[in-house]
Amino acid sequence: LSTNFFILKNYIRDIQGFPKEGIVFKDITPLLIDANARKECLGILVSAVKDKKIDKVIGVESRGFFFGMLLAQELNVGFVPVRKPNKLPFDTISASYDLEYGTDTLEIHTDAIQKGDRILIHDDVLATGGTAKAVCELVERLGGVIVQCNFLMEITFLNGREKIAGNEIFAAITY
Ligand code: PRP
Ligand code: MG
Repeated sequence: LSTNFFILKNYIRDIQGFPKEGIVFKDITPLLIDANARKECLGILVSAVKDKKIDKVIGVESRGFFFGMLLAQELNVGFVPVRKPNKLPFDTISASYDLEYGTDTLEIHTDAIQKGDRILIHDDVLATGGTAKAVCELVERLGGVIVQCNFLMEITFLNGREKIAGNEIFAAITY
């Protein structure tokens, strides 16, 4: 048996107490810095959409930009950034979502998606699902069709997938 299987979790590092006490941050920079690991990881994400027709990939600011752009390049389709408030210069629509304390907002350019566009949404983490739900809302309001919500990792005990139920969900790894 070969021992050189790629194990994605080996490239994700736990940082205790970041950004604040009690939180264990999943740091993907060891994955980003290793060209082979990055390529293997991209291969996993791409295989999850094998045989699906996709017109555009959305990457969610900030950490969704990394593999989001790689996915768009690999699939040879457009890349659309969904950004935090007041970052996008053209006409936008926005969607808000709840945080532990308060709310946050995400925006997309109104001309980024045409009615009927088949959209792959990518982000690094599915946690509570608030972020992903807001992105789904933006896509739907512009008439896009969500092909899959695609993540590097899912924090299952937070039940984020319930918030985006009805959509296909893929996570390369779960914690
Ligand atoms: C993190 C992560 C996801 C989101 C997941 O982003 O990158 O986008 O939280 O959490 P949720 O499922 O509970 O909404 P964050 O807002 O910390 O910003 P960043 O990507 O810019 O670091
Ligand atoms: Mg993020």
